[in-house]
Amino acid sequence: MAPIRGEKILRKTNRKVVAFTAIATTMLLIFSYTFLTWSVGFTSSVDFCTVNCHEMGSSFREWQTSTHYDNDTGVVAECADCHLPTGFVPKIKAKIYFGIRDTVSHYFGDPENLDRKLLAESAAASITNDSCRKCHKNLFPSGLPRGGRLAHSRGVEGEEGRCVKCHRQMVHQSNLYFG
Ligand code: HEC
Ligand code: HEC
Ligand code: HEC
Repeated sequence: MAPIRGEKILRKTNRKVVAFTAIATTMLLIFSYTFLTWSVGFTSSVDFCTVNCHEMGSSFREWQTSTHYDNDTGVVAECADCHLPTGFVPKIKAKIYFGIRDTVSHYFGDPENLDRKLLAESAAASITNDSCRKCHKNLFPSGLPRGGRLAHSRGVEGEEGRCVKCHRQMVHQSNLYFG
């Protein structure tokens, strides 16, 4: 009699432990996911990019006078729209990589004498067509000049078809390093 009763109690306790663990794990997952998505959004805002790091001051001013901030449509492309990849995991990877790189440069580098040409090259290399295609879905709009029609019909895939291969000084007009 006694061992069976003990087994029952044990089984009951086990069930409670399993239920508690399941609830706690679910809550932890929900909390972590909410925190992660919130922090990705928060640290991708224009304010976060520019107010916290004065290195971004000139880029910010360039952006404010660019067509991607001020145009007839009222649509604004924010820093992260262009500078971060589109998928959730690639976005987090990019944030970790650039976050560490820029923080190290801020504290241990020479923020007053940044090599803007090098930064422009690395920024352009990291921008993917997907980021541009989020907004520019139609590459043959009615007002597109003939040159654009010809260029776009050659294809926008691969290295030669990268948007930033042809469109560089759209936002940071002062980067006149490229012919
Ligand atoms: C429409 C897309 C787009 C938007 C929006 C944009 N950028 Fe850029 N950015 C670029 C491209 C393309 C380059 C590569 C260099 C070039 O072509 O001028 C670049 C280069 C840079 C660089 C490296 C060159 C340098 O001058 O140091 C920094 C820093 C930068 N961007 C910061 C920002 C910040 C901060 C914002 C928002 C306030 C922003 N960008 C908004 C497209 C964009
Ligand atoms: C958040 C939406 C958005 C994103 C992301 C975006 N654009 Fe734009 N882009 C616009 C809007 C809106 C305009 C202004 C359209 C107008 O004036 O009619 C524009 C204008 C342009 C123009 C014409 C004006 C100019 O300054 O030369 C080009 C070229 C262009 N974008 C290319 C790009 C490229 C390349 C990327 C990716 C690096 C990109 N855009 C990312 C919304 C976006
Ligand atoms: C091989 C070069 C080339 C590639 C690659 C390319 N474009 Fe263009 N694009 C042009 C040319 C040339 C024009 C017409 C001249 C101009 O307006 O700058 C143009 C025009 C545009 C315009 C209209 C600009 C205006 O003044 O109205 C937009 C928007 C644009 N491209 C977006 C893109 C996007 C987004 C990509 C990537 C998916 C891309 N382009 C890839 C060469 C290219």
